[in-house]
Amino acid sequence: NNHEDQTVLEAYGWLTKLYHHLLRRTKDGKEAKEYLYERGFTNDTINEFKIGYSPSVKDFVVQFLEKKGIHKQIMVKAGLLKATESNDYVDRFQGRVIFPISNHLGKTIGFGGRSLTDRQEPKYLNSPESSLFRKSKLLFNFDKARSEIRKKEEVILMEGYADVIIAYQSGLKNTVASLGTSLTESHATLLRRYVDNVIICYDGDEAGINASYKALQLLRKTGCNVKVTVIPDGLDPDQYIREYGKDTFHQLVYQQSMTEMQFIMYYFRKDFRLSQEGERLRYVEKVLEHIAFLETSVERDYYLRELAEEFNLSLDSLKEDLNQRMQKSK
Ligand code: CTP
Ligand code: MN
Ligand code: MN
Ligand code: MN
Ligand code: MN
Repeated sequence: NNHEDQTVLEAYGWLTKLYHHLLRRTKDGKEAKEYLYERGFTNDTINEFKIGYSPSVKDFVVQFLEKKGIHKQIMVKAGLLKATESNDYVDRFQGRVIFPISNHLGKTIGFGGRSLTDRQEPKYLNSPESSLFRKSKLLFNFDKARSEIRKKEEVILMEGYADVIIAYQSGLKNTVASLGTSLTESHATLLRRYVDNVIICYDGDEAGINASYKALQLLRKTGCNVKVTVIPDGLDPDQYIREYGKDTFHQLVYQQSMTEMQFIMYYFRKDFRLSQEGERLRYVEKVLEHIAFLETSVERDYYLRELAEEFNLSLDSLKEDLNQRMQKSK
């Protein structure tokens, strides 16, 4: 209920401050801070995003919040505590770097906790779903990015918290991420309310490229203009920035992003052996399917010509094929 939600918000607020303080000012937080420095986070960024650390003490949070008058039951409900087999309650995020997750008003409503090593599983632990924390509707950093998204009339979509924060630090302040789930229809609808233009900038690995294709289809259904940045060498955006610097990254995003059709051609090209005639024709059919979705005849014509030229096909027969498809889908 409402009163309980209020208490949970308060608890999240206090904990955000506590975790942040522990990271910045205590010996316990030293290792976590060094981990963040190593990944390129500056002190200003750590402060702006209120990044924190939860020490490896199992009842630290319980003690702290109980002193503030917050009952265990509420902490459990809020996902701050989890029950152990011996039936006591411990801090869910012990020993993890804490990324506070805010609602559109900038209030913490959940945490993402990252392990300090890549070996510990799971690497990320998020607050569980609740009435306040609905992952399918929330986007990480939307509160901070909103005004810039409006101003630039464009949003950049990434996979991870670290990617968004490092991109933000590099000057791309219109960047958001979904929360450890793939993009949903609600996300797409939310973004559509603010912008026409979306740049998908997921990880450059195979999973990221497949997820880009899915996100692209969702977003185009809502009527967004979509571009896709494919990061070379399978890197994540934050790794790419660290490796090549922010200017190269900005260039990659703004000058080398693929248009919808360019990405689709690139994407399907990987799946078909174009040296074989049968596969070549199936590839052409697949691309035609997507061309039929394009809004203007200028665009459709442009890609038809490109296809015709590349595969030495007659433009007229491609046009006919396309027209048939478009008739059918009416
Ligand atoms: N994620 C999550 N829960 C998981 C795994 C991932 O919430 N169990 C989220 C995190 O925000 C993560 C994003 O999904 O950043 C993308 O996952 P992945 O690419 O695997 O994360 P990494 O980039 O590998 O994370 P890091 O850069 O911190 O190593
Ligand atoms: Mn990934
Ligand atoms: Mn990463
Ligand atoms: Mn990643
Ligand atoms: Mn990964």
